[in-house]
Amino acid sequence: MYAELTDNLLTGNKMIDGQHKELIDKINDLLKACENESPTIKATAAQMLNYLADYTEFHFGEEEKLQEEIGYPGIKEHKAKHEELRQVVADLHTMLEEQEGPTEAFVEQVNKNVIEWLYYHIQGFDRSVAEYKNLTKNENLI
Ligand SMILES: [Fe+2]
Repeated sequence: MYAELTDNLLTGNKMIDGQHKELIDKINDLLKACENESPTIKATAAQMLNYLADYTEFHFGEEEKLQEEIGYPGIKEHKAKHEELRQVVADLHTMLEEQEGPTEAFVEQVNKNVIEWLYYHIQGFDRSVAEYKNLTKNENLI
């Protein structure tokens, strides 16, 4: 199953939502690479995983910078959550390295530990940042 940025995953923050869209595209690129039957499937999947890892780094960096800028009080917990996904991606690298190519178990991990994790994270943690940003913005107007 591919990931999708449905309306219930929007935070209302343009930058965050735009980057989530891109992140989801990268996840789907990885899943598509895993379906490929070609002999280069392992290398292609590894490359897509690298793209996903790079974009995840960029996105988390941007989100954390935003939280610092607005003085978001939950930044420490939020950063710890980001660390979780970084670890998952590192584990996926190891898993892929150790196998002939992306197995069913690998795809299952992507679904469970990346997609489901992201959906949950966006709806709770990221939405909370977007709400806090709006709150502080409104305060400044008063
Ligand atoms: Fe986040």
